[in-house]
Amino acid sequence: MRVTVVGSGFVGATTAMRVVQKGLADDVVMVDVVEGLPQGVALDIRESSPVEGFEPNIRGTNDYADTAGSDVVVVTAGLPRQPGMSRMDLLDKNAAIMRSVVGAVVEHSPDAILIIVSNPLDEMTFLASELSGFPKRRVMGMAGVLDSARLRYFIAEDLGISPSAVEAMTLGSHGEAMVPLPRHATVEGKPLAELVDEATLERLYQHTRDAGAEIVGLLKKGSAYYAPSASIAQMVNAIVGDTKEVLPVCAWATGEYGIDGVYVGVPARLGRGGVEEIVELDLNEDELAALRAAAEGIRAKCADLANLGT
Ligand code: LAC
Repeated sequence: MRVTVVGSGFVGATTAMRVVQKGLADDVVMVDVVEGLPQGVALDIRESSPVEGFEPNIRGTNDYADTAGSDVVVVTAGLPRQPGMSRMDLLDKNAAIMRSVVGAVVEHSPDAILIIVSNPLDEMTFLASELSGFPKRRVMGMAGVLDSARLRYFIAEDLGISPSAVEAMTLGSHGEAMVPLPRHATVEGKPLAELVDEATLERLYQHTRDAGAEIVGLLKKGSAYYAPSASIAQMVNAIVGDTKEVLPVCAWATGEYGIDGVYVGVPARLGRGGVEEIVELDLNEDELAALRAAAEGIRAKCADLANLGT
């Protein structure tokens, strides 16, 4: 299995580190336009292998020919947010970067599965899909696992318990139109809604919606990378290990939840085929309406993107 990570910023570097440390691939390739950067990060990671005890199967390059035949390609290339910016403020610049990256990836790895991470996530996933010409099941975006991880952490923090006791899932878009699912959140198997009041639920959801910006505000330059890279690694594991896990990812809907022909955050069964199935959870009318509204918001932004001249 060959896994390529495009972009050697913090998200790319920590993703590559997690993938090689967990032994998810025989070969991890880091590629970036900046000379020396992917080579240096990969060398540094290899030098940690005797201490951490993993096989140092990782290399850096500036040449996409070295990524040839990748099974999975994670695209992290793009500018991160600065304090005060919304993810949408990155649209034009990251669209231009996506245009230059996806063609090079596809030329050398025509059978790869693409995991898009660049922001604004849902729109960049759509753009990458259009540019690649790949079947939609082979192009997905990472956001739901991250948003869900943050929500699970905030619930655990609030209740003073271990995050491992908490399950929760968010759907919709990676942004204000995130759709939390109160009826599907559990603590040690008990529904969260039975443990906390409505105001607490709403506070936890808003904290989750704002979580990316909270990190940007604290770091002052750049955005989060530890939780994003952990989320990406879980998706890579599901694909290369063909685990068939159901994870919330940005995937192409074809009628599920009454949503058609748009990328949106939904629960998806992941395996070697990419998105093997979109799983339809039992949602109530409010949840369905919120998910459909998120999908329509993304559809409108993707139309703007086309007008920018894809
Ligand atoms: C975040 C950015 C990366 O949510 O979208 O941290």
